[in-house]
Amino acid sequence: MHNLKRIDVEIYEAIKQELGRQRECLELIASENFPSLAVLEAQGSIMGNKYAEGYPSKRFYGGCQYMDVVETIAVERAKLLFHAEHANVQPHSGTQANMAVYFAVLNPGDVIMGMHLSHGGHLSHGHPTSFSGKYYKVVQINVRKKDQLIDYKEVERLAKKHKPKLIVAGSSSYSRIIEWEKFREICDEVDAYFLADVAHYAGLIAAGLYPSPVPYADFVTFTTHKTLRGPRGGVILCKKKFASLIDKMVFPGIQGGPMMHTIAAKAVAFKEAMSEEFRLYQARVLSNARMLASELAKRGYKIVSGGTDCHMFLVDLSSLKITGLDAQNMLEAAGITVNKNTVPYDKRSPAETSGIRIGTPAVTTRGMGEKEMVLIADLIDRVIKSRGSKNVISYVKNKVKQLLDKFSLYSNLNY
Ligand SMILES: Cc1ncc(COP(=O)(O)O)c(C=O)c1O
Repeated sequence: MHNLKRIDVEIYEAIKQELGRQRECLELIASENFPSLAVLEAQGSIMGNKYAEGYPSKRFYGGCQYMDVVETIAVERAKLLFHAEHANVQPHSGTQANMAVYFAVLNPGDVIMGMHLSHGGHLSHGHPTSFSGKYYKVVQINVRKKDQLIDYKEVERLAKKHKPKLIVAGSSSYSRIIEWEKFREICDEVDAYFLADVAHYAGLIAAGLYPSPVPYADFVTFTTHKTLRGPRGGVILCKKKFASLIDKMVFPGIQGGPMMHTIAAKAVAFKEAMSEEFRLYQARVLSNARMLASELAKRGYKIVSGGTDCHMFLVDLSSLKITGLDAQNMLEAAGITVNKNTVPYDKRSPAETSGIRIGTPAVTTRGMGEKEMVLIADLIDRVIKSRGSKNVISYVKNKVKQLLDKFSLYSNLNY
C-alpha cells in the first residue's frame, strides 16, 4: 500500500484502521467473512480496468481475450460447484441478482410471494421500501407462531388464494432447513416461477452441508461474500431454458459493464470452495453455530426456532426487556460485533428490534472452534446480563483481545 499511502493518506489511514478493527473485533455478523488473500489479490487487480460489456466471445469492446478466459472459468466453476445448468456471474450484488430474475419473468403489478423481513426474508423479497415491494403486489409469508418454522400448508393456502407469478424462498435469518421440494410442489400447483435465494447458505450448499435448491428451483441467486467467502457480489444459476432470458436481463437489462476484477475473484472463491479444506471449514462453521446457540440457550437465552441448521441464528431478547439495538451497542463497546435483527412477530421497529443475529463464518475463518464458542457465549452473556456495565465491558474487552491474539487475521498484510 505504499503508493496509496503516498498519494492519498486519508484513504490509506481509513483502510489501515479498518484492518485494525477487523483484527481487533470478534466478528459475529452472519453475512460477513474474511476472504483469502488470493481472492483479495484478484479483486484488487488490473482486471477492473477493462470494459467487457457482453459475454465471453460476444463482447462489445475489443481486447477482451483475457476477460473471456476469466469469465468462462468463473461460469464453468459455478456450474460445477452447484451442479447447475447455467450460471451468470455478472450481478454486482445479491439484490441485483434478484432484480434480474424478477425483471426477466415478471411485469410491474404481478403478484409475488416472499418471506416477510421479520420472518427471515430480505428487503429484495418484496419489502415496501425496496423496488421489489414497489413494482409488484406482494404477499408475505410469516413463520408459524408456535415454533417459528415455515408452515408449508399456510404457504400453499396463500399461493392458492393469491396465485403469485413467482415465489421467492430463501432468507437472511431463517436458521432452519428450507424444504425446497415443498416450495417446488406449491409453485407447480399454482403455476408460479420458483426463485430460491441462498445468499446466506451458498457456502454450506457448496460443501454439501445444507440442501441445494438447484434441482428444484427455476432460478437460484446468491451472494459470493457470505458463507462462500468470496468477493462482494452476486450470481444467478438457472435451468438452460432460462439462460438467454437471464443473460439479456443482467446485461443490457439492468447492468452495464461487468466488474471483471470481481468476477476474477469469484472464480478464485469457487476454486477454493471445491477443496476438502473448504468442506471442513463449512463443517466447523456449522458445529460452531450449533455450539454457540446451545451455550447461549443454556444461559437462558431464547433462540428463535430453538436452534440452528446453518451458520447463524437469532436470539430473542424480548423477555430480558432489552432491545436488539442496545445489545448491539453494548457488545460493540466490548469488541463483539453482531447486528440487531427483528424476530418473528416483533413488536419493535427494524431500527430498534427485539433480537440480535449471530453467525459463525468469520470467527471460524480465523480458526476458532467449539471451545472458543463456549467462551464467546460466556462473554456475550456477561455483557447483556450486566446491561453493559462499564466494569464488565472492560473485562470482556480484555478477554476478547486475549482470544483474538491467538487467532491472527491477515498476518501477511503490512499496511
Ligand atoms: C437472502 C439475501 N438475499 C439478498 C441479499 C442482498 O445482497 P446484497 O447486499 O449483495 O445486495 C442478502 C444480503 O444480506 C440476503 O441476505
